[in-house]
Amino acid sequence: MKMNNRKYCINIGLLLITLFASGCYYDQVVPEVVELPDEPVSYTIGIQPFFDAKCISCHNGGGIPLNLLSDVSYDAILNGYVNTTDPEGSLLYTKLNSGGSMAQYASPTEVATILKWIKEGATND
Ligand code: HEC
Repeated sequence: MKMNNRKYCINIGLLLITLFASGCYYDQVVPEVVELPDEPVSYTIGIQPFFDAKCISCHNGGGIPLNLLSDVSYDAILNGYVNTTDPEGSLLYTKLNSGGSMAQYASPTEVATILKWIKEGATND
């Protein structure tokens, strides 16, 4: 009886390890699928609040390039950070996308929203 309990424990242990390990594996290989609303992204409603919350603690006109404070951010971005003919090549996007040095500051939904806004023409609305 004692032996059986031990075997049982080992089996449960192995099962948990397998589940845990496959959980990690799953996280790594399945890319996040981001669903965005169909309506166009508004700069005022969809983009600036994201800069305010996640970026301006650093990007505020101090020593770091690209001032994202609301009174100047649009002009700053349009000055070389977005490319509407090659949205995926925009520095604003490549910096935020996985592998970019700013990726840690933005969620997949926020990055997808930026790309959608650039694809829609990067308008100031
Ligand atoms: C903790 C400070 C910090 C935060 C928060 C931060 N950044 Fe940065 N960012 C930097 C620094 C430092 C650099 C310059 C070094 C580099 O390019 O990695 C930089 C560079 C950049 C650049 C390239 C600028 C250039 O001219 O080369 C972009 C674009 C950028 N950040 C966008 C963002 C966005 C968008 C956010 C918000 C999601 C953000 N950053 C959040 C510190 C920060």
